[in-house]
Amino acid sequence: MFDHLKTLPSDPILGIIAAHAADPNPKKIDLGIGVYRDESGNTPILECVVAAEKILIATQTTKTYLGPPGVARFNRAMTGLLFGEGSDTISRGRVCTVQTPGGTGALRVAADLIKVSKPEAELWAPDPTWANHEALFPGAGMVMHSYPYFDATHSNLRFDAMMDALQQRGPGDVVLFHACCHNPCGVSPDPEQWQVIADVASKRGFTPLVDIAYMGFERGVEEDCLAVRLFAEQCPELIVASSCSKNFAMYRERVGAISVVTQNTDRAVAVESVIHNITRKNYSMPPAHGPAVIDIILHDDELRARWRTELENMRSRIKGLRDTLSEMIAASDIQRDFSFLSRQSGMFSFLGLTAGQVQRLRDEFSIYTVNSSRVNVAAFNQHNMEYFINGLARVLKNQG
Ligand SMILES: Cc1ncc(COP(=O)(O)O)c(C=O)c1O
Repeated sequence: MFDHLKTLPSDPILGIIAAHAADPNPKKIDLGIGVYRDESGNTPILECVVAAEKILIATQTTKTYLGPPGVARFNRAMTGLLFGEGSDTISRGRVCTVQTPGGTGALRVAADLIKVSKPEAELWAPDPTWANHEALFPGAGMVMHSYPYFDATHSNLRFDAMMDALQQRGPGDVVLFHACCHNPCGVSPDPEQWQVIADVASKRGFTPLVDIAYMGFERGVEEDCLAVRLFAEQCPELIVASSCSKNFAMYRERVGAISVVTQNTDRAVAVESVIHNITRKNYSMPPAHGPAVIDIILHDDELRARWRTELENMRSRIKGLRDTLSEMIAASDIQRDFSFLSRQSGMFSFLGLTAGQVQRLRDEFSIYTVNSSRVNVAAFNQHNMEYFINGLARVLKNQG
């Protein structure tokens, strides 16, 4: 059966991790993998998570099956975070939320749900988008297209071109949006632009699919849910794939959720039953530990406040790194404008380097980025910024 299979190349980011790990240069920097890092280069467990895990260990009484919806209280808490406690969407019973293994699990369940419900529906995603979107949706049998999004020359949003493309979409189309901290380009619509996008979605009748993997990393928890809430208010239907990997730093626990907004409670109940049917045939039910921990945090006033503070600290550290990096580059002998770094948000930005320059950063300075020159800004710190800027200056000066 397996004789004809060829070994596939590993994910480029995993290749970077391995190459960086094997590099003996003490000054090496890994700007590839998308995890938050603190000033010491670590990805620590949040204090609120450590405290909640202690409570969980002390109080849990069973490891029996959870059932397809997962941790029900986690699902309700995520619904509240996304749509706003007491929002019309929730009080009218229009939304169902089902816990999934990470945001990736939520995206895959979303694709399967679309295939079951409207097999001919096609997906439109921003250009560029997260590399795994490009694998995941076609992998689930969906035809995928792109719409204009990032202007690489000016490091801005191509808002007019994007709106022209969205005006062409209609019922039967699913349009993917990154709610905040776009991966890989770090550029998001502003609140007024989100309003225009939601107006077009409701007028044209396409179904928005919002991927929210960095809630709290751009402007704040409430603010980063703006797109979700506008679409929920203005469109009859909406799919949201959320992840707790980054904002609770629970990457390996695989915590996420799919939320589907429908026209009424009847539809929400039906959709939830279809989601259960989809997951039962796939992984049966989601894992318990991560959502049980988050359930404890979100239902305890003190832990919830601590989480908000820790999340705010991560957000402001990244913002500070962006500002410092852009100021230090401006003060260096680099002629090119990198001020976009401080205008963009979240962990990622494109440096706008050629493949040759990326390779030189790696070969000559042990600075590792993905080939597109996307960097994880959170991987910078006081000790490595100057070294990075020197390397960047050398690579930009001497194109050889
Ligand atoms: C845009 C985007 N969506 C979804 C995810 C999924 O996150 P996870 O499956 O780790 O929760 C990521 C993770 O990097 C992401 O960048």
